[in-house]
Amino acid sequence: MSRATPRRRAELTFQANRSAGRHGWLRLTPAYARRVVAELLDAHAGERVLDPFSGTGTTALCAAERGRHGTGVELNPFLVELGRLKLRRFARATPRRTTEAAERVLEAVAAKDAVRAPAPPIHNIARWWAAPVLDWLQRLRAAVDAEKGVARELLGVAFCRTMIALSGAAFDHVSMSFKEPALPADVEAAGAERFRADVEAVRAGAAENPPGRGALLRGDARTLAPLEGEHDLVVTSPPYPNRVSYVRELRPYMYWTGHLHEAREAGELDWRAIGGTWGVATSRLASWTPRAAAARPSALEALLPRVREAHPKNGPLLAAYVDRYFEDMATHLDALRPHVRRGGSLHYVIGNASFYGELVPAEALLAELMERAGFVAPEVELLRKRNSKKELFEFVVHARG
Ligand SMILES: C[S@@+](CC[C@H](N)C(=O)[O-])C[C@H]1O[C@@H](n2cnc3c(N)ncnc32)[C@H](O)[C@@H]1O
Repeated sequence: MSRATPRRRAELTFQANRSAGRHGWLRLTPAYARRVVAELLDAHAGERVLDPFSGTGTTALCAAERGRHGTGVELNPFLVELGRLKLRRFARATPRRTTEAAERVLEAVAAKDAVRAPAPPIHNIARWWAAPVLDWLQRLRAAVDAEKGVARELLGVAFCRTMIALSGAAFDHVSMSFKEPALPADVEAAGAERFRADVEAVRAGAAENPPGRGALLRGDARTLAPLEGEHDLVVTSPPYPNRVSYVRELRPYMYWTGHLHEAREAGELDWRAIGGTWGVATSRLASWTPRAAAARPSALEALLPRVREAHPKNGPLLAAYVDRYFEDMATHLDALRPHVRRGGSLHYVIGNASFYGELVPAEALLAELMERAGFVAPEVELLRKRNSKKELFEFVVHARG
């Protein structure tokens, strides 16, 4: 195998990713732009920054990059692990050690007696990876797992990038879709080239430590149980009420990293997620009953019958989905109130949704829920038009503590 070509290509990818640093390690399709967070942080003073729906940890990392303290809360254990790694302070030798470990890994992968990690028990796996690519990935996973310490963790991120790059999953829409899975003529060479490029991208992010600190807590935004103390600023993007499932998209990462073992677990996790809709999370909605109907915003009270009647078969389920979403958001905002300093501020990036032509004005409903939870003077700012459908927009809902 020629090493000259992979090196050159890796250099290109390295350059392309360098500006994104750790933010570019892994993406969630509906993750918000770092620029939006950066602008909000630059416009609002405050040392202690909180993101109760941390996702890939964008807010906490942006805060740490500005010398502030960023705390993220996230339900998904894979994202908690990723977020923690992004906030880590790495030793000066870590990037070099990671490259050395990557070369050892690639040697182990190419060995005749290479060990294979089990294939993930993901439904319809042939849609994800061509068989020879899957076999190569199983060897890569086992070799990465044989490494130790922080290099192993960073190589784990590179593995995730490579595994997705070699898959048939396409992330160019709001929600994930599938194309034909890649089958390079020389799987070994193409795989190694891809992995080296991904290691370079990860290692580039690890080469610079942010000046500030941060913490990532595994928890539920509806209770915020592990969270302590008050915060000056909340900058976050909760799930939108649009039936996009984060677990659906994260399944391959979670299987390969041992955070999921069977399909049922994905549905269970999505049932606990706000706006979750995967597997059992949808079937359970049919028997879900609201906790306190009187607590609904008036606009929601008027909207629910319209959604229910918008489609003879799916309307009732969608109405329950929307109802539960806003009940969960109300619960979240009540749990948040004691953690925001009086005079501090909240900034929620949220998108509206539409079901069979019935528009769900998530931004206005969220503003009303903020006021009910005791936050002051909510204001809605239009952020951008989403390209998918005409009437779909993203907003920032601001309020004061
Ligand atoms: C829009 S994404 C956040 C993306 C994030 N801003 C980023 O840049 O990656 C919403 C996140 O909320 C998380 N989430 C959903 N329900 C939650 C809950 N009950 N508690 C905590 N996090 C939750 C999801 O797992 C998802 O990562």
